[in-house]
Amino acid sequence: MNIRMFDSREELDAFAAQFFIDKINRKPQATLGLATGSTPIGIYENLVERYRKGDVSFSQVTTFNLDEYVGVPASNEQSYAYFMKNNLFGHIDLPVDRAFLPNGMADDLQAECAHYDGMMAGQPIDIQLLGIGHNGHIGFNEPDEALQGGTHVVTLKQETRDANARFFASMDDVPKLAITMGVGSIMKARTIMLVAKGADKADIIKQALQGPITTQCPASLLQAHPDALILLDREAGGKL
Ligand code: GLP
Repeated sequence: MNIRMFDSREELDAFAAQFFIDKINRKPQATLGLATGSTPIGIYENLVERYRKGDVSFSQVTTFNLDEYVGVPASNEQSYAYFMKNNLFGHIDLPVDRAFLPNGMADDLQAECAHYDGMMAGQPIDIQLLGIGHNGHIGFNEPDEALQGGTHVVTLKQETRDANARFFASMDDVPKLAITMGVGSIMKARTIMLVAKGADKADIIKQALQGPITTQCPASLLQAHPDALILLDREAGGKL
C-alpha cells in the first residue's frame, strides 16, 4: 500500500483529482469506479473545475458507482444517482449512457445485481475510488463473518443507517437495503484509491491499514491489493 498524508484537505483533493486526470489523459477510454459520501465531494469539485479549464475530457470515459440505496428513485435527493448528477455528472462531458449505478428501483434486484456484474466484466476498472465507513465498510460491504465477491443486496447495519440519517428527514426514511459492488469487484480494480478525512476516521484507518486482514473490517482487504493508494488528511492518519 502506498499511504500519503496531506496537511490539508484541499491538497488531498487536488492530488486525487490530478491522479484521475493523468490516467484519463493517458487513457481517454478509462473506466472509473466512483464513490459517494462526503469524502469524495472535494475531489469531484476539483474534477469539475479542471474540466471547465479544459484540462480533461470525460467524453470517452465509463464510470461504475459502488452502490445505491434500494427503493430510493434517482429523482430523490438522497439517492446516489442524484448525488452523482449533482456533484459530478451534471457538470462534465461524461455521456449519460456510460455513467452506471446499480438500479435500486429494479423489480428484480437479483437480476439487477447479475446485470451490473455482467457490465463490469467487460470493462475492468482502472481506478476505483473508495471512502470508508466508521465500521470499515467499503461501498456498502458491511463487516461480517463472510463477504461477497459480486454485486449483491445488503441489509445496512444500524450504525450505517445512523451515520446516514443526517441526510434524511427522519430515521424511518433511511433505507434498510442497498445494492453494492462486492469486494471481489472492488479488488479487481487495477488501482484502488481509498480516501479518508477527519479525526473520526483515525481509529478505523489504523485498524484497516495496520490491523489484521479480516472480513470484520472490509477495508483491511486492501492490504492485499497490489496497487492500493491511500490518501489521508493529517487527522485521519493521526493514529498510524
Ligand atoms: C456510505 C457509502 C460509502 C462511503 C461511506 C462513508 O456508507 N456507501 O461508500 O464510503 O458512506 O461516508 P463519508 O465519506 O460521508 O464518511
